[in-house]
Amino acid sequence: MPKIPGWEDPGRVLIAPSILSANPAQLADGVGLAEEAGADLLHVDIMDGHFVPNLSFGPGLVEALSSQTHLPTEVHLMVDNPGAMIPLFADAGANLLIFHRETSPHCHRHLDEIRRRGCLSGIAYNPSRSLADLPLLMDVLDLVVIMGVNPGFSGARFIPQTVQRVRQACEMVAGTGIRIAVDGGVDLSNAQELREAGASLLVSGSCLFSSEDPAATVAFLRG
Ligand code: DX5
Ligand code: ZN
Repeated sequence: MPKIPGWEDPGRVLIAPSILSANPAQLADGVGLAEEAGADLLHVDIMDGHFVPNLSFGPGLVEALSSQTHLPTEVHLMVDNPGAMIPLFADAGANLLIFHRETSPHCHRHLDEIRRRGCLSGIAYNPSRSLADLPLLMDVLDLVVIMGVNPGFSGARFIPQTVQRVRQACEMVAGTGIRIAVDGGVDLSNAQELREAGASLLVSGSCLFSSEDPAATVAFLRG
C-alpha cells in the first residue's frame, strides 16, 4: 500500500485540506498553501450532480495534482456509481479512496477492490446513516469518514450530533487500527472536541482556506 507519512502512528492527527475551498481558477496556489501550512494529505471532492447536488472535479485533476505535489491525495467520491469510478481514480494516482455507504449495496467488494489497486480504503457515512453495518466492513477498511455536514458544498453548517457519532465509530473500531475522520464543518470551535471523541483525521475546507495564518490553523486543528 502507498505510504502516507504518519498513518501508522495512531497518536498523530492528520490534517487534510479540501481543495474544493481553494480558488478554482488558481488550484495550484491552493495546493501550495496546503503544503506550506504543513498539511498531511490533499482532500479532493468528486461530485456527480446526482448523489449530491453539485459538480466538481474528475480524474484528470487528480492526476495533475498527484504529479505536482508531494502530499498524498485523498479522493472523496460523492458519486452514485462508485464501482465504475474507483478504477479511474486509482489509476489517476489517488493514495486513499473514499466512497459513500449510501451509494452501493456492494460496499465490501468496493473496499476490497480499492485495496487491491494499492490504495488505502475509506467509507463515508452521511449524517442520517446508521453505523450499524460498520463491523461487517472492517476487514477491508482503513478509514471511516463521519460526515459533519450533508455533503455537496464547502462552508456548510456543522451538525452537532457528529461528535457522538465519532465516539460511537471509535468504540466500534477499537483495536483494529482503522482511523476515524470527520469531513465537513470542521473548524477552530469543534476540532478539540472531535479529537477528544477519537477523530484522528480532520478534513478542513473553508476554515483553512479563509485563514489569515494557514500554518497556525493546521497546527491548531492538529492539537
Ligand atoms: C462536503 C465536502 C467537504 C467540504 C469541506 O461535501 O465533502 O470535503 O469540502 O468543506 P468545509 O470544511 O468548508 O465544510
Ligand atoms: Zn469531502
